[in-house]
Amino acid sequence: MDQPRHVPVLLDRVLELLAPALSGKPAVVVDTTLGMGGHSDALLSAHPELTLIGLDRDPQAIEMAGKRLAHHGDRVHLVNVTYDHIDEAVRDLGHPRVDGVLMDLGVSSLQLDEEERGFAYSKDAPLDMRMSKGTGMTAADVLNTYSHGDLARVLSTYGEERFAGKIASAVLKEREKEPFTNSGRLVELLYAVVPAASRRTGGHPAKRTFQALRIEVNGELESLRLALPAALGVLGVGGRIVVESYQSLEDRMVKHAFAELAKSRTPPGLPVELPGHGPELRLLTKGAELASEQEIEDNPRAAPVRLRAAERIGEPR
Ligand SMILES: C[S@@+](CC[C@H](N)C(=O)[O-])C[C@H]1O[C@@H](n2cnc3c(N)ncnc32)[C@H](O)[C@@H]1O
Repeated sequence: MDQPRHVPVLLDRVLELLAPALSGKPAVVVDTTLGMGGHSDALLSAHPELTLIGLDRDPQAIEMAGKRLAHHGDRVHLVNVTYDHIDEAVRDLGHPRVDGVLMDLGVSSLQLDEEERGFAYSKDAPLDMRMSKGTGMTAADVLNTYSHGDLARVLSTYGEERFAGKIASAVLKEREKEPFTNSGRLVELLYAVVPAASRRTGGHPAKRTFQALRIEVNGELESLRLALPAALGVLGVGGRIVVESYQSLEDRMVKHAFAELAKSRTPPGLPVELPGHGPELRLLTKGAELASEQEIEDNPRAAPVRLRAAERIGEPR
């Protein structure tokens, strides 16, 4: 049985928002962040004619979700890529246009639970944090090689950390003695640098630094910046997209990407919409939707979620 923390976030709402685009026909949906396949499993069960294309950058997620979804047979196609490759992935599978897209951003509980991957500040583990296992720079590389300016920028932009400059100075001083390898030493440094008074409002002193390092190591915002237009580009008319973000920078990118296409391009003052200038998207959520108190109590991972959804109502311009 799944632990409560492995329950997919806002599952019922995701199913409800995607249903009009998927039900009663041989529709195709892309789960761009397959993870442990919780959302995918429920979508496939809800729509017997549905074909699902599941993407994840983490080969372990592909393997585990593959086993979980095996009972749905040939309705499931899994691809180990980052989601900014959504257009190639769907084209290669012969579905250049799809009916639904789901993006449930961030790390999975599986990744957080695996101590040796170094995502969790509560355990002393190697400072790795790569979601695509084994490729690219680790969190330790960032700490040991970045200049003061670059490190402070990463911490302040991606972690919204008020003490970014102070933390960067302390890291540079500390790494002269010995390079960083494990999270324990970094957490200790953060306890010393982040003033105790700010913990009452800001939570654990390592929370924002760990988030920032993870975003930097995985190029998360760059991947999302490329993925949003790509995902919206493969969505056919009548198709629906749902995005769940867990931090404000991601949510802001989603909000702007949707808002841009939900606007009319007909010059103001004209009595009718000019052909080809109407909105491409209709927003399905008013602002960002949050998890209910009950869901947060049952599944604390849902606490920061911001959900936005839209329907394609016009061809891409
Ligand atoms: C929050 S989990 C998804 C959980 C999933 N919805 C479920 O029900 O089990 C996010 C997943 O997205 C993957 N991921 C993160 N960034 C990605 C990217 N740029 N491209 C593809 N997958 C990514 C992570 O490896 C992780 O498995």
